[in-house]
Amino acid sequence: MTKSHITQLTLAQPDDWHLHLRDNAALKRTVSDTARYFSRAIVMPNLRPPITTTALAIEYRDRILDACPTGNNFMPLMTLYLTDNTSEDEVQRAYDSGMVHAFKLYPAGATTNSDAGVTDLKPCAKALAAMQRLQLPLLVHGEVTSPEIDIFDREKVFIDQVMRPLLLEYPTLKVIFEHITTADAVDFVLESDARIAATITPHHLLLNRNDLLVGGVHPHNYCLPVLKRNTHQQALIKAATSGNSKFFLGTDSAPHAQHLKENACGCAGIYSSHAALELYAEAFEAANALDKLEGFASHFGADFYQLPRNTSTITLQKESWLVPKTYPFGDQPLVPMRSGEMIKWKVIS
Ligand code: NCD
Ligand code: ZN
Ligand code: ZN
Repeated sequence: MTKSHITQLTLAQPDDWHLHLRDNAALKRTVSDTARYFSRAIVMPNLRPPITTTALAIEYRDRILDACPTGNNFMPLMTLYLTDNTSEDEVQRAYDSGMVHAFKLYPAGATTNSDAGVTDLKPCAKALAAMQRLQLPLLVHGEVTSPEIDIFDREKVFIDQVMRPLLLEYPTLKVIFEHITTADAVDFVLESDARIAATITPHHLLLNRNDLLVGGVHPHNYCLPVLKRNTHQQALIKAATSGNSKFFLGTDSAPHAQHLKENACGCAGIYSSHAALELYAEAFEAANALDKLEGFASHFGADFYQLPRNTSTITLQKESWLVPKTYPFGDQPLVPMRSGEMIKWKVIS
């Protein structure tokens, strides 16, 4: 049987290494969708106000667990939002809690709810040194925010302006370049040492900027970092399906209510938790690389975070299904990725 004729696929249970669950009423949707197939997820801290302390993270974790369907063993892995004021002690508390697994660096103003982000790494020096000492990974939204830099170049410019100096200054700090979108980021991660890894989203594998802009503006395909041209998409597909353990699954599923996306100033974020693994399966199948999905989805992230690999399995089947136009999201509708269209794979157990 050639790879392209695979109709069933069994994998170790996957984890989502970059996820926005939001809070309160939204948790019912996001947590139940993610917990169906994912065993663990790295939970982003960009709430309003952001999760900046271990105490806040533990309270947030409890709200997530309360929203989890009974009998489900989903494990949220918490992160803290790095600010100019993050202290060394806070890093130590995060580590000691055993519940906080990383810090998140948002350049101020780069993306949704990032106004508390850092403007300069100097005030963070002690916190970064503590992370390095404790081997707590720094997760990076890798885009510069200077107004003179074109939005399509913000990731590439970030590599030279911020990433390289950061890695030189902290030579053993573990860094995950989150939701990479360019061939430049792929090359950078490949040439860096083993402490540098990257997450890749399903939408950056399946879409490019034509899907955002051809035939009208498609606000539901607007996310940050913004979709790039198809040559970058091809580089991401190649990286994700290469079997290289530096690249692993992080959906960046980031829900916003329909009216906030279909808006004169629509906000950034694509919701994919309703079908994340199935969307990745489509991308890997199209690259004739379904045999590489398990490492990417279920092994490499756990290895990087030094957590055990999952021992349970899930099975996907080649079976088309129609994605609902919307899902309930608190008291608002949410338009998911592939809204009203077919997906070719389905998780069956
Ligand atoms: C994310 C969000 O909505 O929280 N949006 C997005 O487009 N990815 C923020 C982020 O991950 O940068
Ligand atoms: Zn981001
Ligand atoms: Zn994100």
